[in-house]
Amino acid sequence: VSEEEKTEDYLFKIVLIGDSAVGKSNLLARFARDEFYPNSKSTIGVEFQTQKMDINGKEIKAQIWDTAGQERFRAVTSAYYRGAVGALLVYDISRRQTFDSIGRWLNELHTHSDMNVVTILVGNKSDLRDAREVSTAEGKALAEAQGLFFMETSALDSSNVAAAFQTVVKEIY
Ligand code: GTP
Ligand code: MG
Repeated sequence: VSEEEKTEDYLFKIVLIGDSAVGKSNLLARFARDEFYPNSKSTIGVEFQTQKMDINGKEIKAQIWDTAGQERFRAVTSAYYRGAVGALLVYDISRRQTFDSIGRWLNELHTHSDMNVVTILVGNKSDLRDAREVSTAEGKALAEAQGLFFMETSALDSSNVAAAFQTVVKEIY
């Protein structure tokens, strides 16, 4: 077995989903490249990055897919979800509307992927303390009701970003 074939066993596809501007692309940029874009533009189509991770001493490759939250910029939905074993379902703690959309995103996820795709509900922009519209308790409660992992993150100050991705990959692995 070649080195390449060996690592293939540990290539996990993870999808980022959630409304436009919740910070999906910046979570990926922070995780994969330790970068942050204060004025990033909406994603058009699909992008992905492969990130090596060390889980219990084993090298895992997470292939993280990112698409537009806006319907008109999205690529073919079924192709986006195909083969996904993990998902980060992201809302913005400073915009309640993005939290209200979570049910819709969960439906889409369940329509297009395996029922047991490991999913974490992510309340991003935890740095925006003064603008918070969704409490931590509400996020936690929704996650519990839907059987999801939960974490609040900030792509801006890095808090919990790696932890959110690691939670999903560890559970898959
Ligand atoms: P679409 O591609 O349109 O679906 O949006 P997206 O979810 O990829 O959002 P994106 O990462 O482009 O971020 C939208 C805006 O929010 C940008 O101006 C980011 O700088 C900002 N942003 C992202 N994450 C954070 C965060 O953790 N804190 C703060 N304060 N701003 C953030
Ligand atoms: Mg984006």
